[in-house]
Formats: sequence, structure tokens, C-alpha cells
Amino acid sequence: MRTYGANVTPSPSTTTEVGREILKNHPGTTGSLGCAISEAVEAATKQDGYRYVLGSVLNQVLLHQSVIGLETKTALDKYGIEPDIIIGCAGGGSNLGGLIAPFMREKLRGEKDYRIIAVEPASCPSLTRGKYAYDFCDTGMVTPLQKMYTLGSNFIPSANHAGGLRYHGMSSTLSQLYDDGYLEATSVEQTDVFKAAKYFAQVEGILPAPESSHAIRVAIDEALKCKETGEEKTIVFGLTGTGYFDMVAYEKFNNGEMSDYIPTDEELEASFAQLPQVEEL
Ligand SMILES: Cc1ncc(COP(=O)(O)O)c(C=O)c1O
Repeated sequence: MRTYGANVTPSPSTTTEVGREILKNHPGTTGSLGCAISEAVEAATKQDGYRYVLGSVLNQVLLHQSVIGLETKTALDKYGIEPDIIIGCAGGGSNLGGLIAPFMREKLRGEKDYRIIAVEPASCPSLTRGKYAYDFCDTGMVTPLQKMYTLGSNFIPSANHAGGLRYHGMSSTLSQLYDDGYLEATSVEQTDVFKAAKYFAQVEGILPAPESSHAIRVAIDEALKCKETGEEKTIVFGLTGTGYFDMVAYEKFNNGEMSDYIPTDEELEASFAQLPQVEEL
């Protein structure tokens, strides 16, 4: 980013009020997407001529990522292939929401019955262990509330490497689909994710993003189940990015320095206790 002329400030920083507040409440934290959003909102609202558009968790981002789903569906239709399982990693939910859009349309209409699986890191399990509640989209609690599966906007995931999936909440569209039973969710641990990433790189020659590798892990696991039962299934997964931006994570994994972290129930309860109290009509 600096090569292209941007100034980059790691979050949480001391350059914003909310950043200083976060650092006071969470001393030594390595930050999260939720912290960076709060700081970006403050930076945008305190300077003339700037706007902040929240990404990932909001519907407009799912909508433009639906291009991925439309292209996938067109390609599959062209070759007469029908998927049995569709898998995507889920941070805020945008790539998965986009990938599944045209398939979910058929499922909602009762025309097809795909298995659709969201994969999240065990260190930040918003669908699998979160609460379905109104919450802020950021740590500093400056954004509007969204009804979503959330670990609490105050929850800062551990610094172990879940990359862009370290977000406390999940898109309200995906949350609703999950709550209504149209979407499954599972969580995976970091070292297992990187084992899958390494295997994929060796077989395919593509170094996947750590985020995408969550989906790869579950795609491999589902394929191995088929191998055991002798069933044949077509599995589609979203490869959302390249791992070349994340060489440090691969270095850590190959040096045996990558750790797994699963938050305790007590940690999650402490965070749920701070959810905003909203009376639903
Ligand atoms: C490569 C990559 N894949 C996936 C994600 C997850 O985001 P979302 O769940 O909104 O698609 C991110 C987020 O930063 C990412 O960088």
C-alpha cells in the first residue's frame, strides 16, 4: 500500500480517540477488524470530504460479491455439473454470501437442496458459538446495530493467525439463513488449516490465502468422508485470495511456531454480558 502512495497506520493506534480508548481497555492487544473499523470511521468523520463505507458484514458487499456466485453457477451449468456441497470461509460473510447467492436462491425456492457450509476459525466462532442478537459492527461501538450472530463487539479474537476472519459478527443475511437452517457452520483450528493449505499448494501449485484455507480444510475433510463411504460428490469451495501476502504466517507454520486457540465459555460469556440491551418488538 505504501508503494502506491498510501499512509498506513496499524490499528489500534494512538492517532484516534477510539484507538486510545481501545488500547486503554485492552492493553497490549494486537487489534482486530472491529478495532480498525472504529478508527477508520473516526478518521473519516473527523475530516471533511471523507466517507466510510463499512465492508464485509453489510449487504452491499455481499451483493457485489454475488458476481463470484454467478460466475461459478454459469461455469458449472456450462459443463452440466451440479454441486452437492458448497463451502466458503466466513469472516464478515461477504465472499460466502456472494458465492452461495444463486444456489441459495434455488434452495429457498425448494428447487434444489445443496449442502452449504460456512467455515470459521475456532478462535473466532461467531456462527457456531455466538449469540443471535443486535450488536455493533465495531469494537468502539460507533456503527449502527445489526441483528447478527455475534461474539460481542467487545470480543477481540486471539492474535493467533486467522487473518481476515478475525471479526466478532456475521452478516445479517447469513445469520438469518443459518438461524433458519439453510446454512451449516463449522469451525476449524489454525494448524489444521495450514496443513490443508500446504497440501493444496503442493497438489495445485497455488499458495492459498490463510482465510481461503479454512474452506479448503473442510473441502478436503468432506472429500475424505466420500473416500471412506465410496460416495461420489461434487464439492465447490471459494478460493478467496492468494497466500503471497501472508508469507510470515506460512513461515511460522513451517517453523512449527503456529498455535491454536479456542476461547473458553467464560471468555465468551463475559463478552455476551456487554451486548447492547435491545427490546425486540
Ligand atoms: C482472502 C480473504 N478471504 C476471505 C476473507 C473474509 O471476509 P468475508 O467473510 O467478508 O468474505 C478475507 C477478509 O479479509 C480475506 O482477506
